[in-house]
Amino acid sequence: MRKRKKETKILHDWESVDLGRNIPDALPIYPSTAFSIDDLDHLEKMETGHTANFQYARSNTPNHTALSGALATAEEGEAAVVCSAGMAAIYAAVTSAVKPGDHVIVSDYIYSETLNLFLDYFPDMGITCDLVDLDNEKSYLEAFQPNTRLVVTEILTNPTLQVIDVPYVVQEAHRRDALVMVDNTFTTPVLINPITLGVDIVVHSCTKFINGHNDATGGVIVGKNDFIQKVKERIVIYGSFLSPHDAWMIHRSMKTMGLRVTRQCENAWALAKYLQQHPQVRKVFYPGLTGHLGHDRASRMLTGGFGGILSFDLGDEKETIQQFIRSLKTIRFVPTLGGVKTTLSYPAVWGSVLSLPPGVKETIGITDGLLRLSVGIEHIDDLIGDIEDAFSDLSS
Ligand SMILES: Cc1ncc(COP(=O)(O)O)c(C=O)c1O
Repeated sequence: MRKRKKETKILHDWESVDLGRNIPDALPIYPSTAFSIDDLDHLEKMETGHTANFQYARSNTPNHTALSGALATAEEGEAAVVCSAGMAAIYAAVTSAVKPGDHVIVSDYIYSETLNLFLDYFPDMGITCDLVDLDNEKSYLEAFQPNTRLVVTEILTNPTLQVIDVPYVVQEAHRRDALVMVDNTFTTPVLINPITLGVDIVVHSCTKFINGHNDATGGVIVGKNDFIQKVKERIVIYGSFLSPHDAWMIHRSMKTMGLRVTRQCENAWALAKYLQQHPQVRKVFYPGLTGHLGHDRASRMLTGGFGGILSFDLGDEKETIQQFIRSLKTIRFVPTLGGVKTTLSYPAVWGSVLSLPPGVKETIGITDGLLRLSVGIEHIDDLIGDIEDAFSDLSS
């Protein structure tokens, strides 16, 4: 080889390092936006699926392959594809499953920004939607139209933790040739794998329990090979690509997901029991409580716990809510969920809730006194103590 000058050597000589026999114990982050290709034979092998296919990062990187593989395994699905956020996952999945002229049945208790997508954006694309209480058999069955191609739901609804009967929803949808898509963000693959109940498409906001540390945003779609291939093509074209750094963070965090979620469920259950007996609390919404309407259904469908989210009603005095939030020292007022630290949010003023059509906020059970806790992995005594102190401040 011709002897090269210093500038050229700096550019070219250290892009890869000889690792000898050493294999890194953790997968490296591959921030490279493109990968070099040996020659035309190599290119053809990649294009025909005969060798690993890494060309351009918007399409795939080793970090995407690793995270998608781990999530498909966690959800017991054939394949998975990751993307930039939970909302991107929902958008890509729906636009791959239906076309203009199709109709979608959407659970009316679903995450408010998902509702926004179905009410304000999909109709402009010729996709019509009906919000339906899936727990009301008559409303559900009457909502089917000849062009209904998809039913969309969560399992534990936000923020009142209704429990949807997934096997029943699937049975009736499949009878009418419609697919079922479940947003499993709240329930996590630790507590339930909807695909094993017949669900066709599972989506997650990986920003929540899957990553669990409130430091990376991502989404995933899990399903059959052919469907995921279709979604993948759309994600590449839409450019809703997950950064390799976030893919790496989420993949790393998934390794402790089982431990975290188990502890979050234990803490949530203990807090729900504590709040339920407290005279300053009007009502607690947690499916682990025997008095909760969905308790039996949740006991049948979920394994290993009832989730890390609970809501409770402190009454409609805004000043009470204000003082309670201000008095908490360990639990912080943060508008997200699923992290290792316990956080509190106030659904009545979520931006996405304020933009819902009149009446929907009340239908989905969001009152002015409702607070939602996303329970973390702290020592339970510190969580109960923090709330106890805030209640004492309210009565003083
Ligand atoms: C149930 C559920 N699905 C989807 C999303 C959207 O996820 P992301 O914020 O990652 O886009 C959220 C966000 O809060 C959510 O709670």
